[in-house]
Amino acid sequence: MQLIFIEEQVKMNKATVVSGIRPTGYLHLGNYFGAVQNFLRMQEDYNCYFFIADIHSLTTHPTPENLQAGVKQVLAEYLACGIDPEKSTIFIQSDVPEVSELYTILNMNAYLGELERTTSFKDKARQQPENVNAGLLTYPVLMASDIIIHKAHYVPVGKDQEQNLEMARKFAKRFNRMYKSKVFPIPKPFTFDGADLIKVPGLDGSGKMGKSEGNAINLYDTEKEIRKKVMRAVTDSGPTEMNSEKPEAIQNLFTLMKIVSQPEVVADFDEAYNKCEIRYGDMKKQLAEDIVKFTAPIRERIVTILEDEAYLAKVAQMGAEKARESAAATLKEVKKVVGFRKFY
Ligand code: TRP
Repeated sequence: MQLIFIEEQVKMNKATVVSGIRPTGYLHLGNYFGAVQNFLRMQEDYNCYFFIADIHSLTTHPTPENLQAGVKQVLAEYLACGIDPEKSTIFIQSDVPEVSELYTILNMNAYLGELERTTSFKDKARQQPENVNAGLLTYPVLMASDIIIHKAHYVPVGKDQEQNLEMARKFAKRFNRMYKSKVFPIPKPFTFDGADLIKVPGLDGSGKMGKSEGNAINLYDTEKEIRKKVMRAVTDSGPTEMNSEKPEAIQNLFTLMKIVSQPEVVADFDEAYNKCEIRYGDMKKQLAEDIVKFTAPIRERIVTILEDEAYLAKVAQMGAEKARESAAATLKEVKKVVGFRKFY
């Protein structure tokens, strides 16, 4: 394997992208079409850092066994989807201690009031009143550290992370201002054209696919599990008038089908719906088939990669080296400007 080190990337003059993924649960179709597919495209044109946010996940107190299994699973899943360790830097957050060091420094300029006002903090505090720890409060500071330690220009984020990214911008600006320095570029949200953003609906009649909604089809699901989930999807008793508008549950099935099936297949079912001849059982069978056709090869790769501990270790090792090189260079500048200067 050939490592592409920082000097070469800088020479190539690519903008830097950072994104983190918490190692909780399996990747589902919503993650794939909403995020991973965009990562695949980005890794061709940008200097990408994709990491597994294992330190962040400690806020919910996982057991050591679950944490480790979760980290391996996400790593294997991203590799199976085509994130390429030769093109992108794929690493585990806790392998880069420089991130925690920068976090400590940034914490000195992060104020209680602004942290308490963060929506994600307020939500978590409400959801888990028995575990409102300091890590939850300073979550945006650690996230800012993840991003700016690699001098990221862009961060691909969904709606739910917009506020955290806004905080990262604020902390970066504050640091630059306070120390009259230009250490950190101000990271921008990376947004694809509206047309490219695919919202994958769930199978329960309303809303989007989500881990916590319990309506997701995972890339790692077996054929049997997928068939079962699709056959149980919410429908209705069928249209009674020709060309009537589709209720949300039905529209969701069509939307899913548009993502995984051939256009002719979707057109056929659409016509059947408009003529009030649709048989949801047939439609679901076809949908399950086409989902399996898409996920089966990915699942197979996940299984193979998970069995190959040596490969996983090599990828993590290589990513850690590349990420540390970049992080250490930034931290050195940071220490100099804050006044941690050696006189001995
Ligand atoms: N907070 C993000 C999430 O919940 C994960 C994350 C941690 C992240 N650090 C990041 C995302 C840095 C982008 C950049 O999904």
